[in-house]
Amino acid sequence: MSDKTSNQMWGGRFAAGPDAIMEAINASIGFDKRLAAQDIAGSRAHAAMLAATGIVETSDAEAIREGLLTVLSEIEGGDFAFSTALEDIHMNVEARLKEIIGEPAGRLHTARSRNDQVATDFRLWVRDQCDAAEGGILALMKALLGQAEAGADWVMPGFTHLQTAQPVTWGHHMMAYVEMFARDLSRMRDARKRMNESPLGAAALAGTGFPIDRQMTAEALGFDRPMANSLDAVSDRDFALEFLAAASICAMHLSRFAEELVIWSSAQFRFVTLSDRFSTGSSIMPQKKNPDAAELIRAKIGRIFGANVALLMVMKGLPLAYSKDMQEDKEQVFDAADNLMLALAAMEGMVKDMTGNVENLEAAAASGFSTATDLADWLVRETGLPFRDAHHITGALVAMAEKKGCDLSDLSLEEMKSVNDAISEGIFDVLGVHNSVASRMSYGGTAPARVREQVARWKEILG
Ligand code: ARG
Repeated sequence: MSDKTSNQMWGGRFAAGPDAIMEAINASIGFDKRLAAQDIAGSRAHAAMLAATGIVETSDAEAIREGLLTVLSEIEGGDFAFSTALEDIHMNVEARLKEIIGEPAGRLHTARSRNDQVATDFRLWVRDQCDAAEGGILALMKALLGQAEAGADWVMPGFTHLQTAQPVTWGHHMMAYVEMFARDLSRMRDARKRMNESPLGAAALAGTGFPIDRQMTAEALGFDRPMANSLDAVSDRDFALEFLAAASICAMHLSRFAEELVIWSSAQFRFVTLSDRFSTGSSIMPQKKNPDAAELIRAKIGRIFGANVALLMVMKGLPLAYSKDMQEDKEQVFDAADNLMLALAAMEGMVKDMTGNVENLEAAAASGFSTATDLADWLVRETGLPFRDAHHITGALVAMAEKKGCDLSDLSLEEMKSVNDAISEGIFDVLGVHNSVASRMSYGGTAPARVREQVARWKEILG
């Protein structure tokens, strides 16, 4: 078919073909060819249903179903000439089917429209991405569990305001991310569950007069049920938005962790050493080992947020049912999904390979008067002082140590007593970072024993 003639799919009322610019703005084949497998699965289910309901002869439906497999293998083999004149994946597939099987191809589009077709294809594609994200998140959670188990009792500084606050354990820090990614996982699963209804059979917008069986096509495509309203079926993209929203939150977690890895791997911190496999060098400074993977995760996450906002913008002004604006729903989601999977895989790789520098972590944990709260707590416990008074006395001791340029544990008992006479030798027991973390046995606390319980719990869950 020449690109100059009117479109063979809908050209009946057209005398002339589109302007080149019209074609350029209208065509989606450049990106929606990624939906080929879903499009063909949807068409094969539709054809089987058309035969089962007697709408199309079984022999025609069989020819269609066989021919579609040929088209799929051509596309998968990179052996398919996509045509911009044919606009999108749906018309490219159908036109090729016609070349292969002839006249019966024209019966495939009975009782359906590209509107329910594209809604179906895209749902199937996004559903696959929920599954892929689930796999990526689970793998990352397992890598974090490995780190948590190895370093359940490594002591490191816990921060607030990025200022040393209290000692925590490495395992506890890793398990914090396990909890976050577990919620991301459940958001993906929720989104998948809600989106798993079939738009196919909604036709253009109003349903169809043909005696179709929507239950049958829904089942064939692994959907739980057909969508109950044809207008809704062709016109909402909330399933893609839910995926993007879940992806955005997960991406935000990835980005925070990436930021920590950038900081932790710096010469100033040296908390972790990233493996050579997940670092890069500098072309000019021979000493450099850069955390590029972490930085790129942090940066790419912006594209995922952007996709979420972009699709909300596309959708927010559209009256029911379909408008061509909705063709702009795909590229951003493709890009966001690709980058989410890449970021998850890169983070998993970094986490698996990285080495916590136990001595540096501990030295940093012991600095910055990180056990001041333990000191105040000791005063409350041992001398019966109200916490506010204990806080005040501890503040004075910190000021004294700061002035002397030493740690709290370096102050002598006499010096401490000069601030408060009730202080006794026992106080030195709580000033060590290991004692500090071990004492934090409250549920959800940082004590190694608590961390090991959580590691065991998650190992059980993840299997
Ligand atoms: N390529 C179109 C899209 O992605 C398919 C649906 C076209 N429907 C229509 N009424 N023109 O949205």
